[in-house]
Amino acid sequence: MHQRAFLSVRKLLALAGYSDFDLYYDEFGKPHLIDEKQISITHSHHFSAIIISNEAVGIDIEMQRDIILKIAHKFVNDEELSRLQKTDLTDYIKKLTVKWGAKEAIFKIKNEKGISFKDHIQVAPFELNQTQTTADLNFNGAEQKFNIHFSELDTNFTLVYAFENNDTIQEH
Ligand SMILES: CC(C)(COP(=O)(O)OP(=O)(O)OC[C@H]1O[C@@H](n2cnc3c(N)ncnc32)[C@H](O)[C@@H]1OP(=O)(O)O)[C@@H](O)C(=O)NCCC(=O)NCCS
Repeated sequence: MHQRAFLSVRKLLALAGYSDFDLYYDEFGKPHLIDEKQISITHSHHFSAIIISNEAVGIDIEMQRDIILKIAHKFVNDEELSRLQKTDLTDYIKKLTVKWGAKEAIFKIKNEKGISFKDHIQVAPFELNQTQTTADLNFNGAEQKFNIHFSELDTNFTLVYAFENNDTIQEH
């Protein structure tokens, strides 16, 4: 799986006009391109995705799994949890997976030690028939907004990508 993920990412790079020599990793494992563009990479089971942008960007693919119910309290804060409708279990799992993906995507943009998914990132309420929401990162005395895009891939996989919304950085 790891080899397939590696090769599929190189294939996607080639489709975007880049070779392996255009990609390098920093000390935290975050990928960068040698030109001025921003890149983010994800792979999950038989899916791989890259996103290339002029703006800071993060991407994540997650499989929708029941286990997320058990770990929800570790990455979703009480306010987010209280606003989630839990009556339809399938939808609840899908929404939690969007939240997880959004927080991973934001983490990939910021790449800063100490960010807690639960304590520092809050995803605004959304419905599954929508494709966008927003999220706030409150970390190190600064508040920053992100635009979150989400969709379902095939069945049981969720794709999420995030862009920094630079108009909204507020220092406290
Ligand atoms: C590094 C991390 C973001 C990878 O995410 P993942 O869902 O495990 O795996 P994905 O397939 O989506 O992403 C893997 C890609 O992330 C990229 N990546 C790795 N470290 C990264 C970093 N520090 N910043 C940005 N991107 C990173 C790499 O490109 C990697 O793919 P590649 O090695 O093939 O190039 C993740 O493991 C992580 O550390 N998350 C934060 C942990 C955390 O705080 N969890 C909270 C628990 S409540």
